[in-house]
Amino acid sequence: MRIGIIGAGHIGSTLARHFAAAGHQVAIANSRGPETLAGLTADIGGGLRAVTAAEAAGFGEVAVVSIPYGRIDELPRNELSGKIVVDTCNYYPQRDGHEADLDDGSTTSSEKVRAVTGGDVVKAFNAIFWENLRDRGRPEGDPERLAIPVSGDDAKAKKVVSGLIREIGFDPVDAGPLAAGGRKHQPGTDVYTAELPAADMAAVLHTA
Ligand SMILES: NC(=O)c1ccc[n+]([C@@H]2O[C@H](COP(=O)([O-])OP(=O)(O)OC[C@H]3O[C@@H](n4cnc5c(N)ncnc54)[C@H](OP(=O)(O)O)[C@@H]3O)[C@@H](O)[C@H]2O)c1
Repeated sequence: MRIGIIGAGHIGSTLARHFAAAGHQVAIANSRGPETLAGLTADIGGGLRAVTAAEAAGFGEVAVVSIPYGRIDELPRNELSGKIVVDTCNYYPQRDGHEADLDDGSTTSSEKVRAVTGGDVVKAFNAIFWENLRDRGRPEGDPERLAIPVSGDDAKAKKVVSGLIREIGFDPVDAGPLAAGGRKHQPGTDVYTAELPAADMAAVLHTA
């Protein structure tokens, strides 16, 4: 699969490494330009390409958005529109600036990512600490395999993203639709950064 990743920090570069190792074609972008990612592409290899954000979005059958939430207005809307967009972002007002409709809970950061991108947004990889994402992938059936909560409104998009999660050593757990489900794995929830296997993650999500 062709995967474009916008954001080359802790989460974006970790996902690039896993997806490239799984045999996917991966293009990655940051805000400062592809030339600043030469070290990363040399380190990961496997055909990982450094590109601009618009190129990453255009390249991917799946586009991952993994940037500070406060910068989502900079995303390349034309290229992301209609795509499967994986939103790893979390709203941290101290970092991102306050947004009244997020502070009062009337909407969620992922719904705003959907409004900005026009994509089929799947919220995933937002609730796992990046070092666990890097180090704790395990084969299917391993009792130590960790779960990753996933929410979204498009069943097909969710299935594709869930498949990618399984391939890199984690179990996806469906938290529900983007708005209601996404609220269950935002910062401050019981599953946020919790290191749980799938059955325990599902139990917590479904009593939330
Ligand atoms: N760290 C974690 O454990 C963790 C876990 C789950 C979710 N998250 C969330 O996932 C997102 C990414 O987190 P992170 O820790 O990976 O962040 P990070 O290490 O600070 O990296 C952020 C990346 O986003 C890039 N970026 C910023 N604005 C951009 C733009 N307009 N276009 C393209 N790239 C842009 C930055 O590029 P430049 O350096 O060139 O500006 C940088 O590569 C955040 O919303 C975070 O809250 C983080």
